[in-house]
Formats: sequence, C-alpha cells, structure tokens
Amino acid sequence: SPSDPDLVERARAAKEKLGSKVFVLGHHYQRDEVIQFADVTGDSFKLARDAAARPEAEYIVFCGVHFMAESADILTTDDQKVVLPDLAAGCSMADMATAEQVAECWDVLTEAGIAEQVVPVSYMNSSADIKAFTGKHGGTICTSSNAKRALDWAFEQGEKVLFLPDQHLGRNTAVRDMGMSLEDCVVYNPHKPNGGLTADELRAAKMILWRGHCSVHGRFSLESVEDVRARIPGVNVLVHPECKHEVVAAADYVGSTEYIIKALEAAPAGSKWAIGTELNLVRRLANRFAPEGKEIVFLDKTVCFCSTMNRIDLPHLVWALESLAEGKLVNRIEVDKETEAFAKLALERMLALP
Ligand code: 13P
Ligand code: SF4
Repeated sequence: SPSDPDLVERARAAKEKLGSKVFVLGHHYQRDEVIQFADVTGDSFKLARDAAARPEAEYIVFCGVHFMAESADILTTDDQKVVLPDLAAGCSMADMATAEQVAECWDVLTEAGIAEQVVPVSYMNSSADIKAFTGKHGGTICTSSNAKRALDWAFEQGEKVLFLPDQHLGRNTAVRDMGMSLEDCVVYNPHKPNGGLTADELRAAKMILWRGHCSVHGRFSLESVEDVRARIPGVNVLVHPECKHEVVAAADYVGSTEYIIKALEAAPAGSKWAIGTELNLVRRLANRFAPEGKEIVFLDKTVCFCSTMNRIDLPHLVWALESLAEGKLVNRIEVDKETEAFAKLALERMLALP
C-alpha cells in the first residue's frame, strides 16, 4: 500500500534536518514505506559491516530487529547512539536461547567431558548475551552468508561445534556445504534435562544444534516446493537457509537475502522463480523484476511476513527521526560494557573470517 504522503514528507524533513548526523540502516525484510528512507539496505552481515563503517554518524537508526541494533551498538564507537524505532521489534528465534539456558548447556557439555573440544558458533540472530558467551568460549558469530566459512574456521579450532540458536542454518550448512551427515548432528533441547541427550550421544556428535528456529521460514514445507513445481513448470526454487532441511534439500538454490537478490539480478529474462523467504522482500523483488520479464512468486500459498520486522513502520520511523531532530534521544539500544567486550570479540572473529 502507498505510504501516507504527510508521513513521507515529515520523515524527509526530519532526515534533512539531521543531515549527516543520522545514518539509517534497513534490513531487506523491512516494509517498502521504511526502506525508501534507508541510506543503506542489506542482509545482517552487510548491515553489521556498514554500521561499523560510519563513525561520523552520531545516530544510527536501525530499521530491523533488536539483535541487529545490539550488534550495531557493539560495533560502533561509544559516542554513537543506536536507535531502534520500535523496541518491540524482537526476534522469536533469538529469544529461543537465553544466557541461563546456554550456561546450563555448557555445564552439560562439561559433565560429558567434551566442553574443551567444543567451539561455539552463534548465528547473528541471537542476543548480545549469547554473543558474549560465544566470545568468552573462543567462538565466532556467523550470518547466513558466511556460515560455511565460520564452520570451516571453527573446525580448525576444535573437534565439535555448538551451533546457536538456529538448528536449521546449522544443519543445512553442515550437511549441504561441509559434507557431514544428518547423523553427525544432534539437537540440544534447552527445555529437557541434559538437553534431552545422553553423554554418549554428545560425545559422538560433531554438530550440537540448539533447538531454535525461525517461525517465518519454518512455514515453508516440502509440500510448498512440490506444489509450486507442479503449478509453474521450469520454476527455480530459491530459499533461505533458515528453512527446514527437507525444504533446502528440495530447493535449487539456497542463500541469504543478499544472495537471493544477486541471484535474481543475474537471472535471465523469462526465468521463473519461487522464493522461500520473508514476504516484504519477495514482493519488492517481484515488482522490481517484473518489467524485465522475470516471474517471481512467493514459495508458499499463504502469506508470511515477519511480524516483528513489520513493527518498524513509517509512523515509528517518523517519530524516531523527529525526536532525534529535536535533540531527544529515544529508544536507544545500549549493550553493557562487559557484555559488549566479549560479544565484540566474537563479532570481530566473524569480520576477520577469510
Ligand atoms: P539475512 O539477512 O542474513 O539473510 O538474515 C535473514 C533473517 O532472518 C534476519 O532476521
Ligand atoms: Fe527472526 Fe525469523 Fe523474523 Fe528473521 S525472519 S527476524 S529470524 S523471526
């Protein structure tokens, strides 16, 4: 739907008043009405790097979700302030691993006598606490665009990986890109005693996957892939690695949001694509590439936005920008110093991956 012209004008005016003091980052899953005001758009890896590369901006307005704003705060200087236009924009996946649960898991690994062989690898989609745990225990962060490189690195440091919190990205990367088998992976369930695993199972595993998932990508099924192939002959199925293993195994291509965009840019006219990721992005790409004769559809029959990404809407963005323009700092995301130091270690290991 077209944005309210009054709000568009107010956002433009506030941004103009702030000038180079503000830098607006927009994740690809954001609404069109918000994306139009982003100085840069990207996947979570690109946005983390871009946030760190703007030391002159006093305010970083992060149009995305809470863990991304935290990461931006960790990677920017102490003088820079990161603002999340709606504090309720969280991520259900990130919430699936709490600091206490992860500390308990480490105790279980210690009891099983394997903690010393385990390197934690945490998906960007995790709280600053989990990133700090990762840094403290010699591990790295990864995103969907560098998960293989992160695992390659981790298996040079140790024999086993504890992958947090997205079991699907962990499993898909291990099996698709690293030549491991499904049997090399076990799932640690934080709601069960000892994660629901025996010490022998833990000792035999190469990948210990945290039992977390994305509810948005979890809705795509093998049936969605089979349906779309029947409906659109010759269709290319392209999905995000947060999808279940069976969906990824049935797809033609797998990659991060940035990868998906590049694949469609390179696609020939007349090609047909079914995309398994968040709907704001799929719709934007379908509109963008339709004039070039590329047919792009959403992988599932029912719609699926990420409800927390969608919380950042134009009214919230206008409110944040106007407040900043009046000298009022609102919705600042600030990670405490100790957490920040260890989380930064883990994030910097990711940024240094070859
Ligand atoms: P990427 O932007 O890294 O592909 O991640 C997708 C996502 O789910 C972010 O929440
Ligand atoms: Fe979290 Fe999934 Fe939304 Fe990404 S799409 S922010 S992983 S709930």
